[in-house]
Amino acid sequence: MKVQKSLPQRVLFVITHPRIYWDLMQYKLRVFFERVKGVDFSKVEQAPALNFDDYRLNGYWSSANGYLDVVLRTLQIDIKDKVLDIGCGKGAALVKFKKMGFHCVDGLEYTEKLSEIARHNMGKLNLNCQIFQSDARLFNSYHDYNYFYLYNPFTGDIMREVMEKIEASLQSHPRKVTIIYKNAVCDDIVIFNGVFKRIKVLQNQPNEKPFILYSNDVK
Ligand SMILES: C[S@@+](CC[C@H](N)C(=O)[O-])C[C@H]1O[C@@H](n2cnc3c(N)ncnc32)[C@H](O)[C@@H]1O
Repeated sequence: MKVQKSLPQRVLFVITHPRIYWDLMQYKLRVFFERVKGVDFSKVEQAPALNFDDYRLNGYWSSANGYLDVVLRTLQIDIKDKVLDIGCGKGAALVKFKKMGFHCVDGLEYTEKLSEIARHNMGKLNLNCQIFQSDARLFNSYHDYNYFYLYNPFTGDIMREVMEKIEASLQSHPRKVTIIYKNAVCDDIVIFNGVFKRIKVLQNQPNEKPFILYSNDVK
């Protein structure tokens, strides 16, 4: 049962936690203005609301804040580069990729609800992005991409299978691949087979989870 805080309790919370309150207000405003524009990128979706019956799947949070721009600016993006957001959710990061110069930007999403929202968002913004609805373990077109983006979509056992697929795609279609991984809880799995090596760790604030960049093209 949800217990409502009294007014004095709420005032005390604002005074003692100004930063949390400020972030919450910004989040609520963003959600409100997106709704006015007919899109939905920022609203958080907890795993139970997505009907995840698998405890290993996380919910949806967007990673598309200003620091993602900083990370993408460190790359030398070429017209031929193709990026896939593995676990794209509502597609917020796809918009950033387009803005930062990727020509081909696609998303892969497990849930029907989020895939539909992402397709709707891309349509509203007139962005030409494909949204594949699939479990990342079953996706068979990794060979089409040379950049992969992940924002902590799943736990280690799933990550292991996905890395095996990406590495197999390098056998069938040899190419240079860069992985951009935010909140890299499975960092050890990405580098486990020695195919990918860490090339950069980028962190906005000391208390924030870093982005780790990996490449298979490290001499
Ligand atoms: C933290 S959200 C990241 C959203 C987006 N990449 C971003 O940065 O804004 C993780 C997403 O991964 C999706 N996901 C979880 N398990 C997946 C799987 N096995 N295959 C594909 N997507 C998955 C979730 O539904 C969720 O939308």
